[in-house]
Amino acid sequence: MEHSASMANEKIIDGKRISQEIKDELKVQVAKLKEQGIEGCLAVIQVGADPASSVYVRNKKRACAYIGIGSRSYELEEDTTQEQLLELIGQLNNDPAVTGILVQLPVPKQIDEQQIIQAISPAKDVDGFHPQNVGALVSGLPGFVSCTPAGVIQLLKRSGIPIEGKNCVVIGRSNIVGKPMAVLMLRENATVTIAHSKTRDLKEICRRADILIAAVGKPRMIDASYIKEGAVVIDVGIHRGEDQKLCGDVDYDSAVSHVQAITPVPGGVGPMTIAMLMNNCVEALMR
Ligand code: GUN
Repeated sequence: MEHSASMANEKIIDGKRISQEIKDELKVQVAKLKEQGIEGCLAVIQVGADPASSVYVRNKKRACAYIGIGSRSYELEEDTTQEQLLELIGQLNNDPAVTGILVQLPVPKQIDEQQIIQAISPAKDVDGFHPQNVGALVSGLPGFVSCTPAGVIQLLKRSGIPIEGKNCVVIGRSNIVGKPMAVLMLRENATVTIAHSKTRDLKEICRRADILIAAVGKPRMIDASYIKEGAVVIDVGIHRGEDQKLCGDVDYDSAVSHVQAITPVPGGVGPMTIAMLMNNCVEALMR
């Protein structure tokens, strides 16, 4: 019994450990930069008081403190106007002490999210959401890369999972995850398929994947019937089930016996997003 338990553990990609490793590397880098007089500060803007967003914002500020960069938070009222938010972003763009700017999403409905994203200076856009950074990614030019997909690449690389030549299926086509994820896997020389809610024969397509990346937004939708024996499964979803427990887009209990490797929820992709945000913050202050 003990043997099979340890076999199962070897399959689990430990995002908590890998994100810690990255943050520790960044901490060393930040200390060296500080000796050269280079310091930075992340400005985090939250509009309204969505409790999940408040947790993310707190964790981002905590990570800044851990690696040794400054952070400022701007907690704006739920009824903040587009003009007020644009005004603040303009001030932060022009403030040389601020090296990174992030507006926590989602924003209330009176706010035009795309206009806000485009108002952030691309050089301070540590989320990598500005069209200039998205375009740079697609063109293979330097720029900030969206944190969650960048984190998935690090999970695969640091777990020794080869990507080149593999069939990769990304389920989901959001601007934040699905699209940049597909581009990053392509950059690593995978053969990439993007599946989505209108995809026909989804199961058959997923069963061809050597690396299956689920970013669908549906709790436990991807069970063993979507997974090729021996595939690597990356679960980007995060949901709170009826039992109040966190779960992903993948039905972990069903999938685990089929896979070569799998990310758990929590403790898989989630912690990597913040580690890669910190990576972008360090890149921003080196510019
Ligand atoms: N909301 C969910 N994910 C993200 C993210 O990566 N960045 C920001 N700013 N908001 C989010």
